[in-house]
Amino acid sequence: MILLDGKALSKERNLLLKQKIEASVSKHQRSPMLAIILVGDNPASLSYVKGKKRACDLVGIKHDMHHLDETVTQEALEALILSLNQNELVDGILLQLPIPKHLDDDKLIDMISKDKDADGFHVINQGYLYQKKKTIYPATPKGIMTMLKAYDINLLGMNAVVIGRSNIVGFPVARLLMDQGATITVCHSKTKDIALYTKQADIIVVAAGKPHILTKDMVKKGAIVVDVGVNRVDGKLIGDADFSDLKDVCSYLTPVPGGVGPMTIHSLLENTYELYLKHIK
Ligand code: GUN
Repeated sequence: MILLDGKALSKERNLLLKQKIEASVSKHQRSPMLAIILVGDNPASLSYVKGKKRACDLVGIKHDMHHLDETVTQEALEALILSLNQNELVDGILLQLPIPKHLDDDKLIDMISKDKDADGFHVINQGYLYQKKKTIYPATPKGIMTMLKAYDINLLGMNAVVIGRSNIVGFPVARLLMDQGATITVCHSKTKDIALYTKQADIIVVAAGKPHILTKDMVKKGAIVVDVGVNRVDGKLIGDADFSDLKDVCSYLTPVPGGVGPMTIHSLLENTYELYLKHIK
């Protein structure tokens, strides 16, 4: 089994990005800036945002942090987003999800200017993605595709099974896999027999948010497994795939942590830099 080492790959690519950013900053006398909006104190979100800020520091992207109380109103958040849209020093805006239930996340995401949509969640940017047009892609699907390419995995003609149908991961990654010539099946919480599909799969992307739902008996020998899950169980981070069970059957496998997570952050940095390049022209 070959480990899909997102930690090492992202480190290498972050270094290259840092060099590009340094060159751009010395030419244009302005650093890229990512505005981060975090609502409340969800421990997982706090930890993700900390990781994103640290990664920005590493490559030379400034961050503008807005940590709001969980009782913040929809109106106040909308006003913040509008002011960030207008701020010429802000290149990307990220609203860390999930947000409390009294807030309308779809409306807020679509209020972020599509030209500052660092997450690629805006309905217009997702529309471009689904029409196979160049745009800002959601960070996790983009990171997965970057990783598969870096490991020379040719998806042409492969049977791909995606477990999960979210707008953040499952659905867009299915589209991107299809664009590379794979035949796609999307399984989800209502799928009757997920193993029926995964047993046929050459590549499985599991983004179900359920610890160890993918096991050895569900996977054919030589399959590639990409695990998007990050589940905290007994104080330990574990994936949606059972790594120790699968490591002897898979040809390629991502670890958790150290697989998809660092590639997601790398893609967010790339997206922010891409938006910055459009703004400095
Ligand atoms: N919550 C879980 N994943 C993500 C992500 O990629 N971006 C944002 N903004 N929130 C998330």
